[in-house]
Amino acid sequence: MTRQNILVFRELPPDQLARLQAAHAVTVADPKTHRAAFDAALPTAHGLIGSSFPIDKAVLDRAPALKVVSSVSVGVDNYALAELHRRGILLCHTPGVLDETVADTVFALLMATSRRVVELSNLVREGRWTKNIGEEFFGFDVHGKTLGLLGFGRIGQAIARRAALGFGMPVRYHTRRPVDLAAQAPALVGHAEHRSMDTLLAESDFVVAMLPLSDSTRGLADAGFFARMKRGAIFINGGRGATVDEAALLAALDSGHLRAAGLDVFAKEPLPADSPLRTHPRVTPLPHIGSATHETRYAMNRLAVDNLLAALAGQRPAAVYDTAAL
Ligand code: DGY
Repeated sequence: MTRQNILVFRELPPDQLARLQAAHAVTVADPKTHRAAFDAALPTAHGLIGSSFPIDKAVLDRAPALKVVSSVSVGVDNYALAELHRRGILLCHTPGVLDETVADTVFALLMATSRRVVELSNLVREGRWTKNIGEEFFGFDVHGKTLGLLGFGRIGQAIARRAALGFGMPVRYHTRRPVDLAAQAPALVGHAEHRSMDTLLAESDFVVAMLPLSDSTRGLADAGFFARMKRGAIFINGGRGATVDEAALLAALDSGHLRAAGLDVFAKEPLPADSPLRTHPRVTPLPHIGSATHETRYAMNRLAVDNLLAALAGQRPAAVYDTAAL
């Protein structure tokens, strides 16, 4: 196999980097810290691998030899999909290996918001636990409450299983068409029901958004959306931050209509220092840790390297994103 040029634009585990180096000429340049080196490697790059940096038209224009982009993420909102498609550049991503880990993170946010875990832990840490906890610090039960899921792919279904089978929660989900549970998610038969968006918002005690970012989902959770949620409900976002109008979310929290929000993702990441979401008493913010465990990040990196090596060898990679499906 001819050695080709690979540009690595985020840190990879040493053994996975070594797999690339064994077969190809590799340049490692994180554009956030080494932009000049990244730009210099683009014109001869045949493959890119990394994440969390926009591979837009301007980047692609500088990379005329590019054949494949391998993202270390399942989400593909950082990539100019139509441009990749038009240029015949393959886009690979890492679905499947992160589902259970992201579902764990979302569940941590459900528990943290409803039982006020961070706020009450801080009470102890800061020496303010001086008497028995009274009603003003009580939380609300998670078990038995109704969970509404926006996004019912593999990760949504992993969340639904935790909710229904572990916590006895009725699950409602909204997708364009109902999912054939018997064929696709047999464990959820009798536990999850399809709803229109409005009905889901009106029925759910927790609304969990697991939506990819696209033209149709950008700003979807707006003032009207939050107004249609049950009074006292909790909103969780584990998908993409820009699917939420953050000002509208803050207004819904400040008015008392929503009880709390648990957010792993934000319109701008890292969250700007002056964002009210950083310190809002009813918000539990996380620094986009959905898939951030040792095991899962390693699995994502390995799959992304597998994808890239397969594509450069002229084989069909395990996880190709269909850029034609816009
Ligand atoms: C993904 O894979 O898209 C996640 O958001 C990264 O943590």
